[in-house]
Amino acid sequence: MNILAFESSCDETAAAVVRDGRTVLSDVIASQADMHAIYGGVVPEIASRKHIEAIAGLAGEALRRAGLEKKDVDAVAVTYGPGLIGALLVGVNFAKAAAFALDVPLIPVHHVRGHISANYIAHPDLEPPFVCLCVSGGTTLIVDVRGYTDMEILGATRDDAAGECFDKVARVLGIGYPGGAPMDRLSQGGDDKKYVFPQVHVHDAPLDMSFSGLKTAAINLIHNAGQKGEALDLPSLAASFAGAVSDMLVPRVMEASRRCGHGKVAVAGGVAANSRIRRDLERACAQSGDALYLPPLSLCGDNGSMIGCQAYYEYLAGHTADMSLNAYANRDIGRG
Ligand code: KG4
Repeated sequence: MNILAFESSCDETAAAVVRDGRTVLSDVIASQADMHAIYGGVVPEIASRKHIEAIAGLAGEALRRAGLEKKDVDAVAVTYGPGLIGALLVGVNFAKAAAFALDVPLIPVHHVRGHISANYIAHPDLEPPFVCLCVSGGTTLIVDVRGYTDMEILGATRDDAAGECFDKVARVLGIGYPGGAPMDRLSQGGDDKKYVFPQVHVHDAPLDMSFSGLKTAAINLIHNAGQKGEALDLPSLAASFAGAVSDMLVPRVMEASRRCGHGKVAVAGGVAANSRIRRDLERACAQSGDALYLPPLSLCGDNGSMIGCQAYYEYLAGHTADMSLNAYANRDIGRG
């Protein structure tokens, strides 16, 4: 089954053709990051307009690179939430028109379910159940993936997403947008014990997380040093910050895995590219005996392949939509 899939939830327009869930025939992305970098964050209205400009060309390019024609498309899939509502609407409306014109099923895909699916592409042996740490610019969740379309949130951030923290601290440091990758590079060789950041524990919800205090502490530290004219050891600041984020994430996902007893831990989303978090997960899983599934860096960020992969399993579960499909800024992963 050839699925033509679209992703437009934030600042990347992506299209892909995926065969039978796990074989990626093509994957094309138009990133708008340079445009938003001018403003230090995503400007929703600009994102929507850029998606409109890019999506039709990407659809044709995805088919061309897959060596397919329109008649070879068996279904059209699209991210319908969560994300920026205007950005999502571009993908949803384009996918609706494509499915209608090609007379094939339309498959709505939850963005975070898509991120989890990136692991199926990278690891052909991986099957549910497993526990997945989903960490991106807008989401930080620990999910019990009981089946391909059967998921439950075990823990969530109470405020900011982990990726947003990296982005905001990087913005204050003036090292670029999105800030996660530059922060990661800056941290190499830094002393992760040099700066101490607060760790928050949510009373009665030990798997929940909080990042806003951590973000504020880092920003205050930078501003205070600036006001006093003190030089900061930036690699050590970045390394200590990454360590604090990792300390919030890794023990909780390991505890979730212990409780579920699946023996398998996966990670998904843009922040899954972080070298410190990957290292800490490797160490923790080596100790616990859990099998660890890390997606390659190319599949951590937003892409169309992950949507085409998850769409296959949604289709098998009967989750298709008609022309009344809407986009949702917020959507529970359990509802799909
Ligand atoms: O999954 P993604 O591409 O988009 C969303 O769905 O949000 O994630 C983007 C996020 C951004 O916050 C970016 O700074 C972060 O992933 N990110 C990283 C790294 N690479 C990307 N964060 C930490 N370390 C990295 N190496």
